[in-house]
Amino acid sequence: MSLTSFPGGANSSSQTTPITKVTMPALSEMKRQGKPISALTAYDYSTSRLADEAGIDFILVGDSLAMVVLGHENTLAVTVDEMIHHTRAVRRAVHRALVVADMPFGSYSTVAEGLANAVRFVKEAGAEAVKIEGPRIELVRALTEAEIPVVAHLGLTPQSVHRMGGYRVQARTAETVLQLKSDAHALAHAGAAAIVLEGIPREVAAQITAELPVPTIGIGAGPDCDGQILVFHDLLNLTFAPAAKFVRRYADAGTLIRTAIEHYREDVEHHAFPSDEESYHLPESVRNTLDDREQAATLRKA
Ligand code: KIV
Repeated sequence: MSLTSFPGGANSSSQTTPITKVTMPALSEMKRQGKPISALTAYDYSTSRLADEAGIDFILVGDSLAMVVLGHENTLAVTVDEMIHHTRAVRRAVHRALVVADMPFGSYSTVAEGLANAVRFVKEAGAEAVKIEGPRIELVRALTEAEIPVVAHLGLTPQSVHRMGGYRVQARTAETVLQLKSDAHALAHAGAAAIVLEGIPREVAAQITAELPVPTIGIGAGPDCDGQILVFHDLLNLTFAPAAKFVRRYADAGTLIRTAIEHYREDVEHHAFPSDEESYHLPESVRNTLDDREQAATLRKA
């Protein structure tokens, strides 16, 4: 067990000034005012707390956790229970940002199933909205009627990896562009509160963004969306894979962490950690008492 102390307890926030909670209506207002929305994925307490303290507006507990946290080959294997477990950790950390939970593959195959699982994300994990992939118009309508805000996700939808035959840029022909635009309008009309646009040409994302009344959040969709989202591990180089064209690495946490761990291992191997200053000591009075007792025992034996 660690004796590490968390000043003020794990739930305390270093924020001293009152915070204005980001809500779904606040995101729409940001679109109206032309204020860019910053979004990032996060999957655990410490990293989502850092994202929240850094002022990110929208934290997505993405099903990308299947790959970047759990080491699966794609996003398909992660379960509702696993997603809820991580969403609860994020919820405990985040005070300002909107917390959105990704519904995993197979958890919304029917409207009834989608509704039941979305309710779990709200009730058990404290999600403020759920995200679903594809033009699931009926489900979006049902969730909206059930008072569960929905973020839709169009374009390169990773849960469709087998249908798409890999992770490929979508909407590159006139026909598929028109289909995508029609899906985006239908989703907004059905009540989607925001739409993630992934892996589509900049021009298409720009048109959809200009036409829709709800915010678009882009990832690999160019700079004209109302907001941008990146995967936490992409931003920080923690993916062990080359970055996609749309990723910008803002830091090399992979190298930072590996180097720190190497230094720790070397210090252990060279008896350089822990030092005397990093050790607990007996009070002098107890040391003296023990010395006295040892001396008395030695005298008795002599
Ligand atoms: O799961 C995920 O990370 C996503 C992206 C849109 C960021 O869905």
